[in-house]
Amino acid sequence: TIYQATASAPVNIAVIKYWGKRDTKLILPTNSSLSVTLDQDHLRSTTTSRADPSFERDQLWLNGKEDEIKPGSRLATCISEMKRLRKETVEEKDANAPKISGYNVHIASYNNFPTAAGLASSASGFAALVASLAQLYELTVSPSELSIIARQGSGSACRSLFGGFVAWQMGSSPAGTDSLAVEVAPQSHWPQMHALICVASDDKKGTSSTSGMQRTVETSPLLQHRIAHIVPERMQAISEAILKRDFDTFAQITMADSNQFHAVCLDTTPPIFYMNDVSRTIIALIVELNRVSVAKGEGYKAAYTYDAGPNAVIYALDKDIKEIVQLIVSYFPQHAREFKDRFQLFAEGAD
Ligand code: DP6
Repeated sequence: TIYQATASAPVNIAVIKYWGKRDTKLILPTNSSLSVTLDQDHLRSTTTSRADPSFERDQLWLNGKEDEIKPGSRLATCISEMKRLRKETVEEKDANAPKISGYNVHIASYNNFPTAAGLASSASGFAALVASLAQLYELTVSPSELSIIARQGSGSACRSLFGGFVAWQMGSSPAGTDSLAVEVAPQSHWPQMHALICVASDDKKGTSSTSGMQRTVETSPLLQHRIAHIVPERMQAISEAILKRDFDTFAQITMADSNQFHAVCLDTTPPIFYMNDVSRTIIALIVELNRVSVAKGEGYKAAYTYDAGPNAVIYALDKDIKEIVQLIVSYFPQHAREFKDRFQLFAEGAD
């Protein structure tokens, strides 16, 4: 028999940003973070894993193209950790369980979103890899336990093991056993919440998250203030806002944290710039939209957030999505590339 399993995982976008590691090998962060999983069919990675005694080595294909699994790499770590879990939690407990942890695996992963959208695929990619191996190995461990392994693939990947609103608790153990993802609330808790993705540029980013955040840890005094005094309070406050479905507070904290993340990038030596003119114009539009709406007593309508690139993710409630899309399209008519329900792409210089 060939053992085979397929699983998929969604993209997540942080509203409290992870930026900085205290351990670069285990991927242990300098602060906790919180994200919303974009739980729609448009933005997922799907991975099929197979185990068979005839496989000569572990192999991986990304979107049909073979990717080398380097010894000691993040990928190799995730695969060997999953084999270890199979051995320790299944094979050593049940003498009848097939000893498949000793077989090599073949793994094929696909993203169903265009890489041109400039969206990081490492989060959903590592989460789907771990989820498919967990299924292949018939593990009964919790998603939080799996998140510890996905974390070692890419920090943000640990949050994609859950849907809805997810916290990555930084933990304090040097071994990383308490640095894991937990669910704050399922998506069904606040189904009116949606994410709008505005592609400001599909250029490959200049500075990768991994190297950028390390430079920030080494050089930014502002980061030290952020991790000690800002993030703990924000984690608490935004979790409460989510539980109360308080969009105003959610939006204020989300935008403040995006701003501070880009401020610590600027506080890095040499400085790191992720946003461009389109990004900044979208910020101005959202700020003005909220100002008018708050003045009318209607509260906040939208929250922008930017990761390590110029593309905007806008969180908004159902009822306001149309107005926000119209506003942005009116400013960037040439950037409207694709319209799908709840997933909008705007690209600079669209073809
Ligand atoms: C700005 O998870 O990509 O998106 O752990 O080195 O793989 P590594 O970094 P990665 O960093 C994500 C940074 C961010 C913020 C976030 O997702 O929380």
